[in-house]
Amino acid sequence: MRILVCVAWPYAAGPRHLGHAVSTFIPADIVARYHRMIGDEVLMVGGTDMHGTPTMVLADEEGVAPSVIAERYHALHAKNIEQLGVQYDLYWNTADPHHKEWVQEIFLALKEKGHIYEGTMVSPFCVTDQRFLPDRYVEGICPHCGFPRARGDQCENCGRILDPFELKEPRCRIHGTTPIPKETKHFFFRLSAFEKPLAAWAEDDKEHWRHHVLTFMRSWLREGLKDRPITRDLDWGIEVPVPGYESKRIYVWFEAVMGYLTATKEWYRRRNRPEGWRDFWYDPKARHYYFIGKDNIVFHTIIWPAILMGYDRKMDLPYDVPATQYLNISGEKMSAGRGKGAWLPDLLERFDPDQIRYYGIATMPETKDTDFEWEDFERRNNNELLAIYGNFVHRALTFADKNFAHEVPPATFLDATDKAMVRAIEQQVGKVAQNLEYVHIKDAMKEAIQLARLGNQYVDQKAPWNLLKTDRAACATAIHVALRVSRALAIIMAPFLPRSSSRLWHALGHDSDVHAERWNQALDDLPAGQKLRVGKPLFAKIDLREPSEDPTARFDVRVARIVDVKEHPNADKLYVLQIDMGDERRQVVAGIRKDYPIDRLRGRNVVVLANLEPAKLRGIESRGMLLAGEDETAVGLLIPPEDAPLGSQILGAKGAPTLPFSEFQKYKFQVGPDGTVVFRGLGGEAQVTLSVDGKPVRVDKGLKEGTWVH
Ligand code: MF3
Ligand code: ZN
Repeated sequence: MRILVCVAWPYAAGPRHLGHAVSTFIPADIVARYHRMIGDEVLMVGGTDMHGTPTMVLADEEGVAPSVIAERYHALHAKNIEQLGVQYDLYWNTADPHHKEWVQEIFLALKEKGHIYEGTMVSPFCVTDQRFLPDRYVEGICPHCGFPRARGDQCENCGRILDPFELKEPRCRIHGTTPIPKETKHFFFRLSAFEKPLAAWAEDDKEHWRHHVLTFMRSWLREGLKDRPITRDLDWGIEVPVPGYESKRIYVWFEAVMGYLTATKEWYRRRNRPEGWRDFWYDPKARHYYFIGKDNIVFHTIIWPAILMGYDRKMDLPYDVPATQYLNISGEKMSAGRGKGAWLPDLLERFDPDQIRYYGIATMPETKDTDFEWEDFERRNNNELLAIYGNFVHRALTFADKNFAHEVPPATFLDATDKAMVRAIEQQVGKVAQNLEYVHIKDAMKEAIQLARLGNQYVDQKAPWNLLKTDRAACATAIHVALRVSRALAIIMAPFLPRSSSRLWHALGHDSDVHAERWNQALDDLPAGQKLRVGKPLFAKIDLREPSEDPTARFDVRVARIVDVKEHPNADKLYVLQIDMGDERRQVVAGIRKDYPIDRLRGRNVVVLANLEPAKLRGIESRGMLLAGEDETAVGLLIPPEDAPLGSQILGAKGAPTLPFSEFQKYKFQVGPDGTVVFRGLGGEAQVTLSVDGKPVRVDKGLKEGTWVH
C-alpha cells in the first residue's frame, strides 16, 4: 500500500516548541516508520512555511528582509527535526522556485475552470502607514468566544477563521490605531461551490477519524461555506500570475497546503521521474495522512480537499487527518506566538531526543488537551522509560554479559512460564500494530512498554540469580528468553524511540540497522552464541534540580584595616572610610556613626565584603562593606583574629564575581557560639565558621548568639 505522510509546515518564525512537535513531526514520524517496517511504500513530505505573516512580523521587528528570517528558521527547524530523529523523505520549503512554479500552475488551472474569480473586497487599511494591513496585523476581540487578542485571520482561542472586520474593536498591531476599511481588488476561491461534494465526502467512510476532527469539520460545513479571498496586498509571498497584481501575493494558506502535492512532485523530480508523483496522488487505495494541530483543521479538511476537488476530481483526498488538541504548559496553550513553552532547541540541548519523544508521546493530546509539566517529564522518564524499559533490557544484557561469557546463552527447554513470555511477545507486537493502524499513538506505545513490564515480571519470577546456582540450563533459558524480549522491544520501539532502539539492537549483537528490519521480525528469536556488546544503560536519569553549587564561592570576604575616617558630608549616620586590604586600598561608606566614635575606628582591623556591587551612598562611592552584627542594643563590627595579615581570605576567594546587594541579602551570616560568626548558604545547607587559619572571627560588643550579621 502507498502511504503519503503529510506533515504540517511549521512557520519560519522563531523556534518551535514541543507542542508543535507532538502534533506534527513526532506522530508523523512514528506512523511513517511503522508503515515502512510493515513493507508499505511510504513517502513523508513537508517543510517550512516561509511566507506566513508571522515571518513578516519578525522581519519588521528586526528591521531585516523577511527572507533573512525565513532562511534562518528554516535551517533551525531542519536541524531540530534531524536531532529529534524525525525522518522525512523530503523536508522542503515553500520559497523554493519549483514550489512557486507549481503553485502558480495550480492557481491558473483553478482560474481556468472558474473556481477562482476576481472581485473586490474591503480590507483594513492603516492610515498611519498608508498601506493595507495583513490580517495578522489586525488584532481585536473574537466575535465568537470573546478572546481579547484574536487575530484578523483566526482566533487562536476557538480556532475559528475570521475576517479582520468581524473582530470587535480592531486595531493595528504596530500602531494601535483603528484601521479603516478600504476597497481593494482580489482573487476569490469559490469555496461555496464545494459545499455539497465536501458534505458528501465528510459523511463517507470516516469511522477511523478522530471524533473531535469530524465534529469540527461537520459543524463547519453546517454553517455553510463562503467564498474566500486568496490574494493579499503584500510583497512577501508567491506572485499572482496575472497582470495587474504585481503588488499582491497569493495568500499563504492557499499555497502552503499545496506543498504536500508540490513536495511529492519535487521528490520525484529529483529522482528523474517527473510524473512519478501521480503514483501517490491518483491511487484510490493510497492513504494520505495529515499530521496537524487543531488550529489547522479547517484548512486540511475543508479548504485543501476543495482545492483538490477543483483541480482534478480524480485526485486522492485525505484518508485521515489525525489532528491533535493542544499541549498546555501550566494550563495555557503552548503558543509560539505568545512566547511560552518548552522550546525544541532548548530541550534538545539538554536531553536525549528519545526522552523528549517519550514524554511527548506519553502526553500527546490526541483527543483532549493535555499538560506539559517539568516534574511529570522527569517522573515519567525516570519511573517508566528508564525504570521499566531501560531497566529490563539492562538487566538481561548485563546478566548475560557477566554470567554467560558476553554471549546470548542457549535456550534448551521452555517451561510453561517461558512459553507464556514468548506468547506475550506476539500479543504485544500485535497490539502495538493495531493501535498504530488507527493512529492511536499513545496507546500503541503503552502496549510496547507493557511488553517490557511483562519482561521485568518474568525475570523476577524466574529469579535467574538463584537458578544460576541450582539449574544453569534453566537460567540460560530464562536469560535467552529475556534477550529475545529485548530484541522484540528494539523493533517495536523503533518507530517511537528510534535512537535508543538502534543502541539496543547494537548491544544485542546485531550488525544490521534495526530500522531496516520488518515489523514481524520482532517475533524472531536470536541465535545462541551471538556476541553481546553491553555498554551504558539505555537511558540516563533526569534530574531537574539545580546543580548544587558551593555557596561560599559567591563571596570574597577579607581582612582589612581602617586607615582613615571622615564624616559623610550629607548623611549624619554615615562615615567615609579608607581601608587597606594589604595589596589594595578602597573607599567604603559605613553606617556606624552612632555606634563607633572616629578614634575607635582609626587603625582598627575589620572584616570586609570585597565583591559587593559598588554603590553610591548619598553621592559618595562605596566599594565594599564592613560586616557587622546588630541586636536590640548595639551594633558590633566583626573582629578578625588578632595576628591575621591584611588581605587574608576569610570566606570565598579573591576575584569572586560581583555580588548584587539583592543576592547578598539571600544569604545568612549569624553570630554563633562564643561570639563566633557562622555563614549559611541559601537553603541553610553549607555552614562555615568565619576564620583565618583556623582562628575564628568574633563579633564586637558581646552580641547575642543568633544575631544577624550584615
Ligand atoms: N504554518 C502553519 C502553522 O504552523 C501550518 C501550515 S500547514 C500547511 O500553523 F499545510 F498549510 F502548510
Ligand atoms: Zn474565538
